Amino acid sequence: MKTDEKIFLNREPAEPTAGLNSAAIPIWLTGLLAVLLYWSCTFTDTRGGRFSPLVYAPYTSTNQLVELLPKSGDDDFLRHGKMVFNKNCAPCHQDSGSGNPSTFVPPVAGSEIVAAAGPNRLIRILLDGLAGPIKVAGKDYGTAAMPPWRPAMNDYDVAAVLTYIRGSWGNKATPVMPEQVAPIREKDKAHSDPWQWSELEKIPEKD
Ligand code: HEC
Repeated sequence: MKTDEKIFLNREPAEPTAGLNSAAIPIWLTGLLAVLLYWSCTFTDTRGGRFSPLVYAPYTSTNQLVELLPKSGDDDFLRHGKMVFNKNCAPCHQDSGSGNPSTFVPPVAGSEIVAAAGPNRLIRILLDGLAGPIKVAGKDYGTAAMPPWRPAMNDYDVAAVLTYIRGSWGNKATPVMPEQVAPIREKDKAHSDPWQWSELEKIPEKD
């Protein structure tokens, strides 16, 4: 046997090392795994219905099924009112109805104007807007104006959003019907300026 072959045979096998040597996992892979784990948890959370024995394809969550249940007309009306509010009014009055002192927007939650005995003044405020001094929940406003919604909203929209604000955040006033909006829209169609509270005060809250 040649000398260099001997050396080869005498060599001891390498020491076995633990399978997971931290230095062998690149940091980017750890990052990728963390992201994947996070994504899969979120996926499972949002589409958790896949694991509900009540939910079959093509539906993925119990919430979708609730949406499909037959609804009463009242639910539709309120749901519509909330949708109209969140889209058009909440940017100023906030989702919580609290208003926004920094932009001079009064609250609709806890407002005695919103909770009036009837909707005669409210319908007018919605259709043609409101400007000038006004007191809401004990505080003075008047620096900003409320925009008119006459062209943008039909009678159903106006009634639904007023019903929503009159019945939310602790307000407990009667609903408003589209049939109450129509005659006021017709009667005041020439009212092109926003209402002043001094004018509205002269109109009875309720017929
Ligand atoms: C651009 C901001 C803005 C938007 C959008 C807006 N408002 Fe107003 N709203 C105001 C301001 C400002 C006043 C107070 C006007 C004043 O000081 O004379 C007001 C007043 C009111 C009032 C009477 C006072 C009170 O707080 O009770 C009601 C009711 C009202 N808004 C409801 C609504 C509803 C419902 C919508 C959505 C359809 C809406 N507003 C959208 C700014 C806004």
